[in-house]
Amino acid sequence: MHISKALLPLALAGAVLGYTVPASTPLYRVSIYYKRLPNLTEEAFLDHWHKIHGPLCAPWLVKYGVADYQQFHTPSLQRAEFAADSNRTFSAPVPFDGEAAFLVADWRRFMSGFNDPYYMDVIRPDEEKFADEKDALGIGQSALVMALVTRPNYIVKDGKIVVPVSAEVEEKWAQYN
Ligand SMILES: *[C@@H]1O[C@H](CO)[C@@H](O)[C@H](O)[C@H]1NC(C)=O
Ligand SMILES: *[C@@H]1O[C@H](CO)[C@@H](O)[C@H](O)[C@H]1NC(C)=O
Repeated sequence: MHISKALLPLALAGAVLGYTVPASTPLYRVSIYYKRLPNLTEEAFLDHWHKIHGPLCAPWLVKYGVADYQQFHTPSLQRAEFAADSNRTFSAPVPFDGEAAFLVADWRRFMSGFNDPYYMDVIRPDEEKFADEKDALGIGQSALVMALVTRPNYIVKDGKIVVPVSAEVEEKWAQYN
């Protein structure tokens, strides 16, 4: 977490500064797949999730050991384009409006955050304003999935190859391009 203390209100600074994961620690990736409530447009859902819910969760996430949190927004236009033309290589996209992806070193600590009064009194009621959770976990509307990952291993990042590529691979590539 590289957030300057100077940019933060004092109450947040303690939570934000306290957390570093040693480079050798394995991480768990936890995902929650969201569907929006039927009374919201996609735009309103994504906007609320990103601009209101994200900042509301930020200090709580850091307190409970989240090393990395990203929201993946999957608007239906893009899902439809992908579904229409992905019949050969990929199956249809998952039918959710977004994925919340967390990287945590200690998932028990992360889970304990869901009993924190801040989660129950502040985050949860906000979730109920935009996320549809009427079906049980994993059955339909919202699913929690956990997978063990190691440190995210970038092969390509920001459009650039960030691993060494051998002369052999370069040569093979050159035969086709
Ligand atoms: C998917 O199927 C359609 C119609 O059968 C075809 O025109 C299209 O090229 C296919 N797309 C891919 C990526 O294979
Ligand atoms: C949508 O419904 C939820 C749950 O009933 C409610 O809390 C929220 O305010 C509604 N949002 C809009 C934009 O109507």
